[in-house]
Amino acid sequence: MPENRLARAERELRASGGPLFDLTASNPTAVNLPYPAEAIARAFADPAMASYEPSPRGLASARAAVAADYARRGATVEPDRIFLTASSSESYALLFKLLGNPGQAVLVPEPSYPLFEYLARLEDVVPRPYRLAFDGRWHIDFHSLDFTDVAAIVVVSPNNPTGSYLGTEDCDRLLALAAERGLPVISDEVFADFPIAPAPDAVMAMAGRPCPALTFSLGGLSKASGLPQMKLGWIAASGPSALVKPALANLDLVADTYLSVGTPVQLALPRLLEIGAGIRNAIHERVLRNRQALADGIGRDSPCTLLPAEAGWSAILRVPEIMSDEEWALRLLVQDAVLVQPGYFFDLRLGATLVLSLLTPPEVFDPGSARVLAAASRG
Ligand SMILES: Cc1ncc(COP(=O)(O)O)c(C=O)c1O
Repeated sequence: MPENRLARAERELRASGGPLFDLTASNPTAVNLPYPAEAIARAFADPAMASYEPSPRGLASARAAVAADYARRGATVEPDRIFLTASSSESYALLFKLLGNPGQAVLVPEPSYPLFEYLARLEDVVPRPYRLAFDGRWHIDFHSLDFTDVAAIVVVSPNNPTGSYLGTEDCDRLLALAAERGLPVISDEVFADFPIAPAPDAVMAMAGRPCPALTFSLGGLSKASGLPQMKLGWIAASGPSALVKPALANLDLVADTYLSVGTPVQLALPRLLEIGAGIRNAIHERVLRNRQALADGIGRDSPCTLLPAEAGWSAILRVPEIMSDEEWALRLLVQDAVLVQPGYFFDLRLGATLVLSLLTPPEVFDPGSARVLAAASRG
């Protein structure tokens, strides 16, 4: 793939060794957060890892720990309906293999994070976007759903980078449409544990919710516990038993072909989830702190607007539409040494928008975001 202008400018700036205010961090282990390294290492000190008990769904003790974690979020999920995977990305891959025939479409939200394109095409299914519309809150644009030869519907709640949860009305309407057509729903909930200002009717977890359609909820250690390096995610199935049972039997076959989750991390999972609670709190505090700092930095006369967010790790900043968001990102990089993601990376279509990572260490976030706001005021 050819390098785009922004990637080239970033590479050149990094090579020059000059200062760089990177507001695109996505790896929680690399943003100066306190990680209890010793406790994490001790979580793996389990002699049981000397033996191998292959199981397509994963070890019962690990699945029970995931079920307990859902209970923490108020959702009841049977351990038997949980599959462990190596990551949410792998969960998508397994489900696309399970649900799609080559060439079929999977409906994916737009704007959203750009990995679907690759995840779907690598499994020979075709991502077909449906729009999310913004009117002060994000909604599904139901007119944009095209159900021709569709294998599954993907929802991301909270979505990245819009930070929007599915509202009850949208959720129920979508599930009814899915049930009517016999279509399964894949619900990516990896950011559900990072609320900022959820709407009162936000659906905080599809898992365990009474639901007329076959639904697969995705979660994992990568975001909720800030432990992407552990490579452990999960799929929780819900919906009518008559649909769930055969789907899980088929998913057993797919997962049994790979058995990709290591025994050590499965044994460590109960403890990693406990440790992850502390990491999650630190990430959450960081995200809330940076968002408040950004909101405070936008003066009354600023031409910038901070879009509301219900959850997640990102802030969307609307900047004056005097140039495209790609040109804004390039100019900020070249003139101000600030790296941001332009909204078009996520198919945001709201004029010129920039996406800032709220994971960024404050000592980088504050001067970096101040530079963005100053550049926007200069115009
Ligand atoms: C919405 C969403 N889902 C899934 C993922 C991937 O998560 P994992 O690291 O578990 O593959 C990301 C990564 O940024 C994401 O933004």
